[in-house]
Formats: sequence, C-alpha cells, structure tokens
Amino acid sequence: MAAQDRPRLDPATARAVIDPQSYAEWDGLLDTFDRLREDTPVAWVEPAEDAVHPPFWLVTRYDDVMRMSKDNATFLNNPHSVVFSLTEGIEFAKALTGGSEHMVASLVTFDAPVHMKYRKLTQEWFMPKNLRGVEDEIRGIAHAAVDRLLAGGGEADFVKTVSAPYPLHVVMQILGVPEEDEPRMLTLTQQMFGGSDEDLNQSGMKDLPPEAITQLVAGAVKDFEAYFAKLTAQRRANPTADVASTIANAVVDGEPLNDRDMMGYYIILAAAGHDTTSASTAGAMLALAQDAEQWARVRADRSLLPGIVEEAIRWTTPVQHFMRTAAEDTEVGGQAIAKGDWLMMNYVAANHDPAHFDDPRRFDAARSPNRHLAFGAGAHQCLGLHLARLEMRILFEVLLDRIETVELAGEPERSKSTFVGGLKTLPLRFTAA
Ligand code: HEM
Repeated sequence: MAAQDRPRLDPATARAVIDPQSYAEWDGLLDTFDRLREDTPVAWVEPAEDAVHPPFWLVTRYDDVMRMSKDNATFLNNPHSVVFSLTEGIEFAKALTGGSEHMVASLVTFDAPVHMKYRKLTQEWFMPKNLRGVEDEIRGIAHAAVDRLLAGGGEADFVKTVSAPYPLHVVMQILGVPEEDEPRMLTLTQQMFGGSDEDLNQSGMKDLPPEAITQLVAGAVKDFEAYFAKLTAQRRANPTADVASTIANAVVDGEPLNDRDMMGYYIILAAAGHDTTSASTAGAMLALAQDAEQWARVRADRSLLPGIVEEAIRWTTPVQHFMRTAAEDTEVGGQAIAKGDWLMMNYVAANHDPAHFDDPRRFDAARSPNRHLAFGAGAHQCLGLHLARLEMRILFEVLLDRIETVELAGEPERSKSTFVGGLKTLPLRFTAA
C-alpha cells in the first residue's frame, strides 16, 4: 500500500496521542480515543515536528487489540521497541546495546521459541498455589504501609505513604533484595529507564550531554549486574524459596543463564512489579474514597473485594500500551498493514471500548463479565497478574480492617507518561477504626 493511502491522523491528534501530558489529562484522552475508535480505529501516526518518532499504527478497538495480543506469530516483540519511544530514545538504546532497540533483554523482548523457555523458568513461581507461601509476608508489608498511613494523623498522600512503597517492598522481598538496598535498586532502575522519564528529568539528567547520559546508564547497568552477580552467587551456594534462587539456578538448553539474560530477568521483574500495581492500588482507593457508601458496603461484605480489585485494574489500566512489529503483510480491523510496520496496542482505549464495557468511564465494582485487557493477552500476558491481584486484595483487607471512613482531601494528580501511568498524588482524609 502506498504511504499516502494510509488513514493518517491529523497533526494535532497525532501529537496528542504520543504526548505524555495528554495521559495526565485523562478525560480528554478518553474523548480522543472514543472519536478514533469510531472514525479511524487503526490510524497511521506520523511524527510531529517537535517530537520525532518512527511512524506507527495506533489500534484502539478492543477486538483488534485482543486479536493482535493473541497472534504472537504475526505480531512480534522484535525487532522494534516494545514501548513507544522517540527516535532519540531508540538511537540511545541502540548505541548502548550495539544495535538493539531493546535496552534490556527480557521476557517482553523475546519471541518464540526463546520466549517460552525463559517464561517457563518462573511461571510456576507466580501461580496462585505458590503465592500462598508468601501471603503472610505480604500481609506484614501491608500492615507496615497502613501503620505509616495512620501515623499521618488522619490526613496523608496515599501514593507516597502506601501505594508506591508497598508494591516496591513486595517485589524486592520476592527478588531477595534486602530492605537496606531498596533505594539503590530504585535509583538504578530509574537511571536505566529514565531517558525521557520525568523523575530523571527532574534529577537534572535532561541537561546532561548525550554521552554523559550514555555513560550514566551504562554505569547503572554495570552496577546492577555486579549487584545481582553477588546475589546469584549467594543463591547458588544457598538456595532459598525466592525468585532470585529460581533465576540463579535456572537452566536453558542445558546451560545456566548468562549475565545479560539473568540481569534482564531481575530488571523486568523489579521494573514491571511496582509502578503498575501502585497505579491500580491508588485507583482503587480513589474510587472508594469518592463513594463512602461503597467503602462501608465492602467493609461489611468482603466478598465484594475481588470485583473492586478487578474493576480498578481495568478502570486505571496502568500499562497504557505495548508495541508490536508486523512479521508479514497482514491486516488489522480491515486495514492493510505492511511487513515491518510498528503498531501500538492501546490498552487504555481498548479497556474503554463501549462495545465491551457499558458506560466504560464508570467505576462499576459489579461489572460482569470484566474481561479487560489491562494485563494483555496471549503468550506475553502479564506474568505477575496473580501477584498484583493478591497484593491489592491483601492491602485492602488490611485497610478495611483498620480504617473506618475515608474521603478525598484534595485534587489527585496523574503522572505524565505514555507507558506506565496513573495517580502520582492522592490526598486523603480518614478515620482509624
Ligand atoms: C507483562 C500489565 C503487575 C511482571 C505485562 C503486560 C502488561 C502488564 C499489559 C504485557 C502483556 C502483553 O504483552 O500481552 C501489568 C499490570 C500490573 C502488572 C496492569 C498491575 C496491576 C506485574 C507484577 C509483575 C509483573 C506485580 C511481577 C513482579 C510482568 C512480566 C511481564 C509482564 C515479567 C512480561 C511477560 C512476558 O513477556 O512473557 N504486564 N502488570 N507485572 N508483567 Fe505485568
């Protein structure tokens, strides 16, 4: 198909759908997706003058995103980046890795047949049956988070005191990182992923020349590698029940994992496990804080909790997209796609598709069925989905036990990010039970 025949987005919309700021202005973003789903459900997005990126297809309908997610032979996680990135960021990853668009080699950047070999190594560990073994530990971490909240004396920012640190502690425990090393791990992951990240821009990285940033990131990768090499040696000598032991002692095709693969595994778990769950947890709290009756109802009847957790995950959709590369000439929703084209599966748009969700912007704890796409689908479906649900359920059990009433104490704010997004502040007023 000739490039001029592609259904192109007008420049303003093309700019809006890749602008981190749009993701902070949620209702406007949902309006844009409503319009696109109707008019141009598979739309060609060309770069804006002030934001240069490779062109891509934006896919907004639930059925199309579902089909692409499940067809892992046609829609690959290689060779293009699996996360939307400006050209500058892609070039940066290539410079760092010697040609790959993926900064780190990990489950999300592997395709068949390698992908399944690596996924199988930890899949069992993340199953509900195994997770029962860490429930008590998670409950302890949840109590510590609620202690911090209550120490605020009736008012606190829920994100800062609870929803951000809680999943970070959990994932670090699971990885076997001692508490005193957590801040260092957090800094390292931020340095590695922060090319265009706000936090890092705030830390002054934006002002550094590109070579200095490359060096900083290369240093972070080395540091990470050294840290986990030590942990790996310990877990090989004395295996425990944590994920670090599983990875350290894993064998693929008769060989132990090499350093880059092992590090990629640790990084994906550390990175995928905290901001995501933090966002859905904060979203659940927002929904409940806005509805005193619902809070009272679920305090009295805990069987309502799983529905609230699931709906919060759909309603917030913390992972806002993933990208795929077409392995061959194909079509999506009737639109011809050429081999090698880059495509964005937009989960926010898919999870607000009225063809599958009545009144999609409403938080409906009784929504049934609720087959949302927040965890993706197909071969790459979120490895940590049972853990994420478990963490949320346990935290809210503790919150409901220990907090009698809760309400908003100010305007919550959303983060500016096209990839993982959600609330960055949630001011609350509450009374202890
Ligand atoms: C993959 C969402 C929590 C680990 C994914 C994907 C999504 C996602 C959308 C890609 C799916 C696809 O390509 O089809 C979420 C959300 C979470 C969450 C919304 C919280 C509410 C977690 C947690 C962990 C985790 C707690 C583990 C500690 C992973 C891993 C992958 C993944 C390892 C890659 C799987 C693969 O490529 O095979 N997640 N996630 N996630 N997630 Fe999560």
